[in-house]
Amino acid sequence: CSSLVSADVVEHSFHVQNRTITRLCRRQVITAVNGSLPGPTIRVNEGDTLVVHVFNLSPYNLTIHWHGVFQLLSGWADGPEFATQCPIRPGHSYTYKFKVTGQEGTLWWHAHVSWLRATVHGALIIRPKKGHSYPFPKPYREVPILLGEWWNANVVDVENEGLASGAAPNNSDAYTINGWPGDLYPCSVNQTYKMTVKYGKTYLLRIINAALNNQLFFKIANHKMKVVAVDAAYTDPYITDVVVTGPGQTTDILLTADQTPASYYMTANPYASAAGVPFDNTTTRGIIMYEGALSSTPIMPILPAFNDTPTAHKFFTNLTGLVTGPFWNPPPRKVDEHMFITIGLGLTACNGRPGNATCAGPNGQRFAASMNNASFQFPDNISMLEAFFYNVGGIYTTDFPDQPPLKFDYTNPNNSNNANIIMTTKSTKVKKIKFNATVEIVFQNTALIGIENHPIHLHGFNFYVLAQGFGNYNPAVDRKKFNLLNPQERNTIGVPVGGWAVIRFRANNPGVWLMHCHLDVHLPWGLATSFVVENGPTPSTKLPPPPPDLPKC
Ligand code: C2O
Repeated sequence: CSSLVSADVVEHSFHVQNRTITRLCRRQVITAVNGSLPGPTIRVNEGDTLVVHVFNLSPYNLTIHWHGVFQLLSGWADGPEFATQCPIRPGHSYTYKFKVTGQEGTLWWHAHVSWLRATVHGALIIRPKKGHSYPFPKPYREVPILLGEWWNANVVDVENEGLASGAAPNNSDAYTINGWPGDLYPCSVNQTYKMTVKYGKTYLLRIINAALNNQLFFKIANHKMKVVAVDAAYTDPYITDVVVTGPGQTTDILLTADQTPASYYMTANPYASAAGVPFDNTTTRGIIMYEGALSSTPIMPILPAFNDTPTAHKFFTNLTGLVTGPFWNPPPRKVDEHMFITIGLGLTACNGRPGNATCAGPNGQRFAASMNNASFQFPDNISMLEAFFYNVGGIYTTDFPDQPPLKFDYTNPNNSNNANIIMTTKSTKVKKIKFNATVEIVFQNTALIGIENHPIHLHGFNFYVLAQGFGNYNPAVDRKKFNLLNPQERNTIGVPVGGWAVIRFRANNPGVWLMHCHLDVHLPWGLATSFVVENGPTPSTKLPPPPPDLPKC
C-alpha cells in the first residue's frame, strides 16, 4: 500500500516534575510536563497510533487523560484516576498507547487527578491522514490557543484546603493565553502572548479551554471568526465575533487578517452565568500584530458581561454538524436507553471535620453535588475498569437511576421537594449498558444554589446535541425541537444555567466511561457518574487485557 495513506506511530516522552516559574512577579512551584507551561503540543494524523511514555518525577500521584479521544478498545489508556487506572505513583511510569481514529481537529491532554491539570495539560492536534485535506481551504498557518487559569499558590493545596473546610476553594489569580496572563494583570506586561500575522492570510486558531473552573468568552478586536470544528468534530462554517467555551471544550476557528494593518487584542473573560457566586472576573489578553505595523497601540474588543447568557446561548445553539464531513454519521433514530439526569449542586451536612462542628460553606454546611441525587465517590483501591475486566464485585453498583428519585420543580427554588435533593450519601453508582446500545440523556440543571452552566463531559464517545433550552424540560414541547438532521457533535456540553440539554450517543466501545462536570471544583463534590459498556459479541468488540505496565494500587 502507498506510503501516502499509511498510518504512523507517533512517540513522545513526558517527564513530569516540579519546577519554579515566575508569573505576576512571583516565583511559584508548579508541576509541568517537560518543563513547559502549557505542556508539549502533540500532532498526529488521523489513523496514527500515539505512544506516550509518562515518567512521574513529581511528588504527586498522576494520570494523563486524552480528552475527547474515542479510545476504541483501548480504555486502559483513557486515564481518569480510579476510573480506568490506578495512579502512577511518584517515581513510576506508564506508557499510554492508542490509535487516534475517526476524528479530526483539536483535542487536548491533561492530568486527571486532583487539580494538577491546571498546569499539566497541552494540545492534541489531529490532522487529516496524509493525502487528505480539511473540509475548508488550507490555512496559511495553524496556532494552538490554550486558555488557562493561574494561581499564586500550589493548586493541589488550594483544592485540599477547600475540601477540608467544605467551602468553595479560592478563585484563580489570572487567566492565561498560552501560559501568559497578559498586560492587564499587575507585573505582567512582558508576559503577554503575541502572534504575528500577514495581511490577507488565513489562520487556523485551535482554541482550547483548559481553565479549571470558568467558561470563557473569546474575542479578537475588529475581526470575525469562522468556526469550523468543535471538540474535534467538523461544523458547518459559522461566523461570529465571539466564541464561548466551557472547560474541556475546543473550538477551531479561521481568522483572516483582513483589517487595517495594526495590532489587535485577543481576549478571554469569564462567562459565569449568575451573580452571587464568587468567581475570577479578570481578563487575559494577547496581541495579534500585523507585519509592517508591529508597534501600533493594540485595539481592544468590547467584552461581553460575565452573565451574558443570551450571547452564550446564541453561540451554543447556532452550531451544526457538517454532514458532508469525513466522519459524519447521522444521529441514531432509535433509542434503547432513555435517561433524565438532574445536575444538583447544593449543601450537605458538615461531617468529618475534626474538632469543628460546622463547615466553612454557607450555613455552616459543606458543598456537595450530584447527578440524580447520587453523589459520586471514586473507589480508591482498584480502578472501575479493572473491576469490570476481572469481575471484581463490591467496587461499584449498577443502580444509577434513569430518572431522578424525586419529582421537583427544577426552576422553583421554593418547591418543597427541592430541599430533599441533599447529597448526604456518597456512592459509586454506575449505569450499565449493552454494547452498541443507543442512549438519550436529558440533562436538567437545577436551581438550588450557585445557578450556573455546567460543562458535562462524557469520556469515550462523542454525542449529538439534539436541543437545549431554559426552564423545565417539557417533553411534549421540547422533543419537537430535536435536531436529528445535522446536530453538532461534542464531548462536552454546557448545560444551560437554569435549563436543559438533550444528547444522544451510541455506546459502541466496551469499558468504563466517566461522565462528569468539567468544572474541577465540582468533580470531588460528586458531580459525576459512569457508563459501564458491556463487551460486544465478537472478539473485535471486546476490551482486550490491560498492558503489563498498568499501574497497580
Ligand atoms: Cu477532560 Cu474527565 O476530563
